[in-house]
Amino acid sequence: MDKLIRKIEQLKSERQAVILAHNYEPPEIQDIADIVGDSLGLSIDAAKLDNPVIVFCGVSFMAESAAILAPDKQVLLPRLNCGCGLADMANAAALRKIRGKHPDAVVVTYVNSSAAVKAESDICCTSGNAVNVVRSIPKDKDIIFVPDRNLGAYVQTQTGRKMILWDGACPIHDVISADDITTARAAYPDALAIVHPECKPEVVAMADSVCSTGGMFDFVAGTNHKEFIVVTEEGMLYPLRQAHPDRTFYPVKKGGMICPDMKMISLDDVCTSLEKMEYIITVNPETATKARLALERMLTVPRN
Ligand code: 13P
Repeated sequence: MDKLIRKIEQLKSERQAVILAHNYEPPEIQDIADIVGDSLGLSIDAAKLDNPVIVFCGVSFMAESAAILAPDKQVLLPRLNCGCGLADMANAAALRKIRGKHPDAVVVTYVNSSAAVKAESDICCTSGNAVNVVRSIPKDKDIIFVPDRNLGAYVQTQTGRKMILWDGACPIHDVISADDITTARAAYPDALAIVHPECKPEVVAMADSVCSTGGMFDFVAGTNHKEFIVVTEEGMLYPLRQAHPDRTFYPVKKGGMICPDMKMISLDDVCTSLEKMEYIITVNPETATKARLALERMLTVPRN
């Protein structure tokens, strides 16, 4: 293991590469990453880093966004098949059709989407700034929110804006029920529930705090509470425990919330990726130009 990590370090320095990892990635990947964060933080970093090579340990839409935001850099995804069930629920042709019915509407697209869908959108958002993105849109405009109906529903409650919601949801977050929260609260009566807004509205309604994975760190840091029920993908438990060793974090449901796509990349994959410079993520230039506009608009909007 040590030998493999040393090899990764050596290749990383030879390539002048930086390793970015999402908060859901396995612990050993987070440990070798230069930056670990949520979708918004990683997009901001990808856009501003000087390194010529970015190894993206996350899922494909994240690497694609990095490649769009950093067109002069080589973005590598160590495994090509890390997808996103939510992103797969929207496609550009269907979005064009809905747009056709609401030609004056503003299309707000969650970053968990393909580059082609982003290219059909006016502005992107992440769970970290979705509320502020919608608040930034003039009140007289209709809004089409793509592709997560749960995040869209949450944004509606926070902004009072009625939006046209695409009928998609994250297959991992969408299975958590209000009963799961009730059971977890009974097991850990002193714990606060921190809930990702990709969960169903009835689950979000039971939260002590609703936040992106990045926002969960801030919430914990801002309270004296000692125990937390973490209602998102289980990978999040590791960085929270690392950041706050004096607190206790419980998964909402044992073994219940694991995104297989976020668990695909291994240390061997990262090493091979740097060695062979694979897999380089490229986006069709016309699509990338349009998608970049929507992503760059997103980056001007602060966190919720
Ligand atoms: P965050 O932006 O909160 O990290 O969420 C990413 C994600 O894909 C949640 O399923």
